[in-house]
Amino acid sequence: MVAKQNKQINDLIFKELIKRGYSLEGNTRIWNIADSKLWYLRPDQAQSFLDLENSEAYQKYLIQKEIDLINENMNFIIKKLKGETINLVDLGCGDGKKAVLFIDKLKGNVRMRYCPIDISDYMVEKALTRIRKTDVEEVVKFQWNISDFENIENVSNLLRVGDFKKNLFLLLGNTLGNFEINELLYEVRSSMKGGDYLLIGNGLDNRHPEEILRSYNNEEVNEFLKHIPMQIGLKEKDIKLGVRFKNSRVELYYTILKDNVIEFQGKKIVLNEGDQILVSVSYKYTKEDFMSFMKLYFDDVGIWTSPDKSYALALCKK
Ligand SMILES: C[S@@+](CC[C@H](N)C(=O)[O-])C[C@H]1O[C@@H](n2cnc3c(N)ncnc32)[C@H](O)[C@@H]1O
Repeated sequence: MVAKQNKQINDLIFKELIKRGYSLEGNTRIWNIADSKLWYLRPDQAQSFLDLENSEAYQKYLIQKEIDLINENMNFIIKKLKGETINLVDLGCGDGKKAVLFIDKLKGNVRMRYCPIDISDYMVEKALTRIRKTDVEEVVKFQWNISDFENIENVSNLLRVGDFKKNLFLLLGNTLGNFEINELLYEVRSSMKGGDYLLIGNGLDNRHPEEILRSYNNEEVNEFLKHIPMQIGLKEKDIKLGVRFKNSRVELYYTILKDNVIEFQGKKIVLNEGDQILVSVSYKYTKEDFMSFMKLYFDDVGIWTSPDKSYALALCKK
């Protein structure tokens, strides 16, 4: 029996499925709609990501490693920026908790203005609320806080006003890994001027995939990502989350457990039992490959890694 779906279909997700179609891997049809734009469309989705960040595995295997690296190397960062007047441009700010580390520690050494940029208005509001409670000199609130990374060049030009000519960009929390690395690095680099800094935090491939998968293979990840298949009308009981490490990346996908037909605005998608919908990818490079990518875009690059070599923090200067 084929289930017919037509209610409450999300236009954007449906269109992505239609546009991208499927590819075959052996006999399995893979619908690749792994685009982070689809993960934070609604407040409840964005909040599920923040809940995931609070989960034990995510805290332990990703967040704490990044925070440790930031704290351990803060003095080096301070030395580079001492006496400057900067915009702290938080790319994909989330709820702003990482930016607080910089605001607290750079205080007294650097004059700083905070500018969150995120595709999700929910995240921007969270970050603004959090940062306003700190004693940062100024918080930039304007219509461009809610922007796609594609638009960063325009936004960063608007920020270079008054004394605030220099930017420290943050791209933390493994955000780069969710993108085609050259595309995003090119976009970010284009938005920088000579003397600007970019700080990137990203997971690495330390050749222990079972360890890498631990932070992804849990119910909180499902709670975050299930919104995507469910927003095209699939029922929770008809999908199952799978996680694998393949092609230098963690792939998160839903297997369809029952044939489904989705009809929307005169178009139809047939999902067969066994089809997979790839909803998220997170690239993990070896330290050497990661360094090579950075050096393609920046002459001055420093990389620090966590003791188990599974996380990297890179400070790049243009
Ligand atoms: C993995 S989270 C990291 C959040 C935060 N930087 C941290 O370290 O906790 C990625 C963030 O980037 C935002 N984001 C994802 N895709 C985006 C895009 N194309 N343009 C702008 N922001 C995006 C998300 O809304 C989310 O807040």
